Formats: sequence, structure tokens, C-alpha cells
Amino acid sequence: MLDILEDRYPMLKLAVLPGDGTGPEVVREALKVLKAISKLEGIDYTTSQFDYGGELYLKTGEIINDEQIDELRSFDAILLGAVGHPNVKPGILEKGLLLRLRFALDQYINLRPVVLYPGVDCPLKDKGPEHVNFDVIRENTEDLYCGNGGILRKGTQQEVSTQEMIATRFGAERCLRYAFEYCRRKKQNGEGKGLLTLVHKTNVLTFCGDTWFRAFNEIGEADYPDIQRDYNHVDACCMWFVKNPEFYDTIVVPNMFGDIITDLGAIIQGGMGIAAGGNINPDPKGVSMYEPIGGSAPKYTGQNVINPLAAIGALAMLLQNSGFKKAGDRVVAAIKTTTPKMKSMAAGRMGYSTSEVGDLVCQVL
Ligand code: IPM
Ligand code: MN
Repeated sequence: MLDILEDRYPMLKLAVLPGDGTGPEVVREALKVLKAISKLEGIDYTTSQFDYGGELYLKTGEIINDEQIDELRSFDAILLGAVGHPNVKPGILEKGLLLRLRFALDQYINLRPVVLYPGVDCPLKDKGPEHVNFDVIRENTEDLYCGNGGILRKGTQQEVSTQEMIATRFGAERCLRYAFEYCRRKKQNGEGKGLLTLVHKTNVLTFCGDTWFRAFNEIGEADYPDIQRDYNHVDACCMWFVKNPEFYDTIVVPNMFGDIITDLGAIIQGGMGIAAGGNINPDPKGVSMYEPIGGSAPKYTGQNVINPLAAIGALAMLLQNSGFKKAGDRVVAAIKTTTPKMKSMAAGRMGYSTSEVGDLVCQVL
């Protein structure tokens, strides 16, 4: 993982959205780790908590409005717990809060590192940390996620529904450029081999796939001759994740396929309890949002059994990308020292409680 901003904020202003379910429990541990690392690294920070999510929605009927989003723009970064509530119909909070924020804050990159930490069980036969270590850069504002489409004659035998895949040259290009830059910097830092793989389905999606494929090759040829380009169809990519994950360095992928392959990525790195991601607006004035990529896990809520390492990993990414690279790296190193001490990454089977795992990370720091 790499820093995006070179300059550190003199005072890091964080908005914290614990959200629903186990979100507050894992965010609590991430903030515990933030406190510890800030002492060690001399980071000044403030946190402001916001209670957007299912509970608030059920009470007030409101999710988040334009003024509230504007308020979030005044922060340096956002730490998000989880979105999703068992009593709220699926789609409402996902669209109304998570996707709303990604779109409104133009967080057009979803950066999802797939890293198998030491001591973590990998479901793949004969694969270890040396095989599972790559980054997925998922476009985060276009594609099937635009919500373009509609439904006609609903509930009748003549029902018609459409939901369109949207690709713009602008959207593909800014994501591809970020990915090329990211891949180059990894190579320069000795963290990657300079291989960027585009994942799409150009054999069927001959319009959107073509836009991505041509942009990928044009930009690569013109500006990134040092980066080797490769292409996988998304179905084949799923197969390679399982068969030869060591093949990958950096992957760039549109939104929907990126959503799907990063769940597969999460399970080969040990599960949702460990997978972190960043919704990034690379503009220096942009506000990025970091989150554990697992959901709100309602059945574990309030039991102090959920794994907080994904949230702590999200905090590490937040620090790395906000100018505190060394602090973020130290948190990652502490996670790597903690995972071998745990029995499992799964909720309830860690051998420790949620808060004990947070304490372990702080002790290592
Ligand atoms: C993710 C989630 C979201 C997505 C849902 C909750 C809208 O699955 O962050 O991967 O599809 O992007
Ligand atoms: Mn997903």
C-alpha cells in the first residue's frame, strides 16, 4: 500500500461513521489503535462521530442529506464501520448512504488490497502469504452502479426491467491512470513487478469493454511503457484467483466485476474479518473513506466476537493515504504480528474477543 498525499495534515480531522451492526464495535478498536499510534508518531487528530445508518433511519426516516454531506467535505478523511440493518429493506441504506457518499464525494477509486497475513488460514491448497499479495483497483462511480434503468408494467406478465451498464471514457481513464500510477509506484518501491491486469468481459460486453480496453492500451502505450499490461476476462480471473493468485500485482476493473472479485479476494486472504478497503478521491482536496469490506454482521452484533482487524487495516490505509505512511505501515506491521497469535479470523473463533484483538495490536505497537 502506498501513500497518496506526500504532506501530512498538521491536524488530522476525521469523521467517524460507525454505522450499523458490528460497525461500532470494530470502529471502537480502530480508534483505540489510532490513539496508540498517534502517541508514538506524534499525530494530532480530532474525531467527530456521526450516527448515520439504520437506527437513525428507522427513527427519523432520513438517511443523509446534501447539507450533511457538505459537512463531511470539511474533514480530511472518513472512517466507516458498516452499512446494513436487519430491519431495513436491502438496498435502502446501501444506496442511500454508502453509494451516496461514494458518488457525492467522487470517490472514484475503490482500493482493495488482497494480502494474506502470516498465520492466517488460506482456503487455497498450498498457498501462503508469498502467493496472495496484490491490489485490486475497482472503479467506484460508474457501471451498473449508476442505477440507470427502470421497470415497466410491474407485476404483470408483460413486466420489463432494464439496468444499464455505463462506461465513460472520462471515468475509465481516470481510474486507469490511477492504476498505472499505483502500479508504477509499487514497482519503484520494490513492492511489485510492474504488471497491471485489466479485468473485464470484452468478448460479450463489446461496447463498455471496448471503451475500457482501448483506453487501457492507449494510456499504457503513451505514458506507461515501464508497466506491463495484461488482460483477463472476469470469469477467467476468478479461476486464476484460486489457481495462481501469485500471478497478480495490480488489477484494474470496473465497478460491478470489481465488487464480485473482491469478495473472492477477501476469502483468499482469510475472510471478511481481515479485508479492508479505501474509497478514494485522489484529488488533494478530496475526502476519502476507509472501511472494513465485510458487512454489518447482525447476528454477531454486541457480542464482542467480531474480528476488528479489517477495521484496523482500514485505519492503516487511511493513515498511509493521508500523509502518515510510516504510522500506517507500523499499524500494518502490528497486524502482521497479531494474526499468528489468533486461532482464526472468523467471528467467535479468534481465541480472543473483539476488544482483546484491539489490545493485542496496541501492545505490539
Ligand atoms: C461493497 C458492497 C457494496 C457494493 C454494497 C453494500 C452496495 O458490497 O462495498 O463491496 O456493492 O459496492
Ligand atoms: Mn461487495
